[in-house]
Amino acid sequence: MICLGVETSCDETAVALVSDGVLLGQRLISQDEAHALFGGVVPELASREHLRKAYALVSGLLADTGVTARDLDVVAVARGPGLLGSLLVGVNLAKGLALGGGARLVGVNHLHAHLMAAGLERPLPLPALGLLVSGGHTHLYRMAGAMEFELLGTTLDDAAGEALDKAAKAVNLPYPGGRELDLLGRGVEPDRSMFPVPYVQNDNLDFSFSGLKTAVIKHVRSHPDLRLETLPDARAMATPELARFCASVNHAVVEALRVKTRRALQRFPQLKTLVVAGGVAANSMLRRSMAELADALAVELVLPSPALCTDNASMIAFLGERLARQGCRHGLDMEAIPRGRAVPRDYILDPAI
Ligand code: KG4
Ligand code: ZN
Repeated sequence: MICLGVETSCDETAVALVSDGVLLGQRLISQDEAHALFGGVVPELASREHLRKAYALVSGLLADTGVTARDLDVVAVARGPGLLGSLLVGVNLAKGLALGGGARLVGVNHLHAHLMAAGLERPLPLPALGLLVSGGHTHLYRMAGAMEFELLGTTLDDAAGEALDKAAKAVNLPYPGGRELDLLGRGVEPDRSMFPVPYVQNDNLDFSFSGLKTAVIKHVRSHPDLRLETLPDARAMATPELARFCASVNHAVVEALRVKTRRALQRFPQLKTLVVAGGVAANSMLRRSMAELADALAVELVLPSPALCTDNASMIAFLGERLARQGCRHGLDMEAIPRGRAVPRDYILDPAI
């Protein structure tokens, strides 16, 4: 089975080919530079960039791999959650390709794809606890299969990545700030009293990062020297105080994630695997903390390699192929689902499978 994956949910335009669970090739264009000027993703700009780049990416990938549109058995696309205009570009491209080449169309939940992505690199023992940490989401799931995701906890306000990005923006670090905070704070001892670990004095599995955001903004206001003057080459001009600030923000976010993940693993002792995925899973402090946690609780840790953590189409093709094997497909009336709306499980199930 050959499956083309299309990803345009935010600011990465990406396509990938997977055959029988193995990656044949992928192409990705990041729009970081286009949005850096504005310090965050500009939705209108993102849709236009996807539209400009997506067709050439597909034809380039097919040329790279010697696969033609008619060879495709499945066209899988991230149908949400994400920026609606951006999603529509990918969804319509996928519909056109599926219709033109006679392939099966499969709409994929972008969040579930993040959590299943590691399956491309190694076996994924299920059921597992899945921690999804990205720019838009902070979710804990009980995951048992390609279609079986039960939400156990979620953020009540900002996502973990959003909190890191906003903290970075407060000191003028370039977008996307989470990665910059990680790089600047790496190897630096955090000041644990600088920011309280947010929303852990309770009994639930939810997250809240808006209080941390406010604390960070207040801290920067009272320490204006932390702020970098100019954007280009910002990292080169960082002071030790700024590096410590970065490590301390990072620590507060990672600790909140660790406490709730630990609580979930203790509440669901039958889950012997911990999967950590999404853009923030590329964070070095989080990776170390989760490795220690998994070790202490004797669960198996599954962490995708950093390139597979941030948005990509390999994960869409991988999950799309799995869903197709289970007999799932969508009609050409499949909707794109914007952020904030639950992605429905409205597959048309093939009775023969
Ligand atoms: O999954 P992703 O690529 O896109 C969304 O679906 O949101 O996640 C993007 C988020 C951004 O907030 C970015 O700052 C963060 O992932 N990120 C990181 C790192 N690399 C990307 N955060 C912390 N440390 C990193 N190394
Ligand atoms: Zn994502």
